[in-house]
Amino acid sequence: MEASGAEEGRTVTGTDLAPNSTAVRTALWRALHTELDAAPHVIDDRLGLLLAEPDPDWRRRPDMNQYATPGVRASIVARARFIEDLVAERAEDGVTQYVLLGAGLDTFVQRRPEIASCITVFEVDQPGPQAWKRQRLIDLGFGIPQGQRLVPVDFENQSWWEQLLDNGFDTSAPAVVSSLGVSMYLTEAAVDATLARVAGWPGGGEIVFDYAEPPYEEMSEQSRAARQALRERVAAVGEPFLSALVPEALHARLAELGYAQIEDLAPLDLAERFLGPEIAAAASAAGAGGRGGGHVLFART
Ligand SMILES: C[S@@+](CC[C@H](N)C(=O)[O-])C[C@H]1O[C@@H](n2cnc3c(N)ncnc32)[C@H](O)[C@@H]1O
Repeated sequence: MEASGAEEGRTVTGTDLAPNSTAVRTALWRALHTELDAAPHVIDDRLGLLLAEPDPDWRRRPDMNQYATPGVRASIVARARFIEDLVAERAEDGVTQYVLLGAGLDTFVQRRPEIASCITVFEVDQPGPQAWKRQRLIDLGFGIPQGQRLVPVDFENQSWWEQLLDNGFDTSAPAVVSSLGVSMYLTEAAVDATLARVAGWPGGGEIVFDYAEPPYEEMSEQSRAARQALRERVAAVGEPFLSALVPEALHARLAELGYAQIEDLAPLDLAERFLGPEIAAAASAAGAGGRGGGHVLFART
C-alpha cells in the first residue's frame, strides 16, 4: 500500500484526459529508486518518469523526500519485481496472457519487449487516464504494439472481464493477473468480485495483489494518527481508501473461491527478498512494515 501523501491540487476524475495522481506517484517512486538507491536496482524504470513528465523539481515534492521514502520505495519496486519475475517465468512455461488491473503508468511492455512480444498484455484502467497514457506512448514514439491491449474500465461501475473478452482475452487459456496499488481504492465487494472472477476461469488464473489491513486494537496512537492523516489526504484529492482486509478472513475467502495456493507476504518480506536485510531494516526504521501495513498476496487456482 502506498504510504505517503497524495498529490496536492485539483482532483482528477476517471474520465479526465489526465494521469491518475496515485499512478504518477508510484511511477515517480520507481524512478526515485533508480536515482537514489545503490545498484543493482530491483527494477530500472525511468520510463514511467518519462511518461509522467512531472515538473523539473519533482524530487522536491514532500512525498518524494529521499529520507522519508526508503520504505515506500522498497515496497513499490519489490512488488513490481515480484510480478515481473512471475510473468517472465510463466511466459517461459508458455502462458500468453498478462492482465494488469489498474495498470497506471506501468511500462512492462516497453521495458521488457523480449517477453511482451510473446504474450498479450491487457492493461485495464480508468478511461481518462488510460486515454492520456495512450497518447503519451504515441507522442513519445513507443506506439501501441499489437500485443498491448488498452482496456478502459471503471471497476466500480463496469465489469472489467466483459471488456477483456471484447479485447480478445481467452478464459480457456491460463493467465497471470496483477492488481497492485488498487484494492484499497475499491470497495470490498469490487475486490471480492475480481477474486471470484479470476478463480472461475477454466484455463486457470493466478493473481498478485496488495491490500491494506484495517487498524488493529493494539495499534499505537502515533500509527493510528498517521494512518488517519493519510486517509484524509487521499480522500481530499478524490481517491479515498474504500477497503481494508483482515488477512485471516481473506485467506479463508480465497480458499472458498477455489484458490489452491496462497502466499501472503508481509510488508517487509519482499523488500528483504529483493533488497537484502540492510535495506529492509532501513525501511523498517523509516516506518515501513509492522502489523497493519500493506501485504502482497499471490494466489493460484
Ligand atoms: C496507485 S495506482 C497503481 C498503478 C500501478 N498498478 C502501479 O503499481 O504503479 C492505482 C491505479 O488504479 C486505477 N484505479 C483506481 N480506481 C479505479 C477504478 N475504479 N477503475 C479502474 N481503475 C482504477 C488508477 O487509475 C491507477 O492507475
